[in-house]
Amino acid sequence: MQKQDLLGLRGMPRKQMEAILDRAVEMKQIVRSEHKRVSHLQGKSVVTLFYENSTRTRMSFELASKYMGAASANMSASASSVAKGETLIDTGATLDMMGVDIIIMRHPMSGAPHLLAKHVKASVVNAGDGMNEHPTQALLDMFTIREHFGAIDGLKIAIIGDALHSRVARSDAYGLMAMGAKLYFAGPSTLMPPEFGRLGVHTGNDIRAAVQGADVVMGLRIQRERQKAGLFPSVREYHHFFGIGMDTLALAKPGALVMHPGPVNRGVELSSYAADCEQSVIRDQVQNGVAVRMAILDMLANGGERA
Ligand code: CP
Repeated sequence: MQKQDLLGLRGMPRKQMEAILDRAVEMKQIVRSEHKRVSHLQGKSVVTLFYENSTRTRMSFELASKYMGAASANMSASASSVAKGETLIDTGATLDMMGVDIIIMRHPMSGAPHLLAKHVKASVVNAGDGMNEHPTQALLDMFTIREHFGAIDGLKIAIIGDALHSRVARSDAYGLMAMGAKLYFAGPSTLMPPEFGRLGVHTGNDIRAAVQGADVVMGLRIQRERQKAGLFPSVREYHHFFGIGMDTLALAKPGALVMHPGPVNRGVELSSYAADCEQSVIRDQVQNGVAVRMAILDMLANGGERA
């Protein structure tokens, strides 16, 4: 198997993203089928190597591997020899020697999967690195939007919340801009990344202007684990000014999609009304996450063709 990595969407050609989304359409049929069993990854081995907590990303990669017949295993840093001081590169070499074909990695440090990819024979997939990127989340977000509207070109997408600390925000910005969306980020000025202006993304602190006429309204989690103190006065005040609720959604286009990468802090970035309303596709995002991750594993293992 020839080594290919998926480390981020920055600079990824639109055609390559579309190829993943197209493959995921086929994979979704498998996820929704009764037997959920194909042999696309027969003979391959996949390891999830997570140095941070996860529910959606880790479980969906593990299920994706199993549905496609791979030998799969999970390695959590706290229960491994990493806790005894083993370096990332030595851990990677150990997995290589065991014949692992694909390593799915989440790490609190930006760039950690890029470092690992330089030192291992296995393909590396970035499952979220610090404040940098979370490419597979952005691909499943794009899949969900494209599935609903048929195309992403020209859609107004409002993304509200802590973009500064969000790797999802960065990957969504690179991916959705490449796919032709009009992107509006809004949140407290202290949580808006200055570099987003250079991408042609609108940024500001007026949530109403961002959501006005939007086709999609996405909330971002407040990344408390990555924030310094004092970036906004209180969670209650944050929700008052930047929480997405019924009033905010009334400004969007009728039927606009409500999205969130999860985990949702109810009553903070989204009201329970917004999280559970008819327009909410938060649960669809989770199911699409399995299909998109199956597509990614299939393409890394088999490229354009299948063995
Ligand atoms: N969206 C996301 O990455 O969720 P998890 O942290 O549960 O994987």
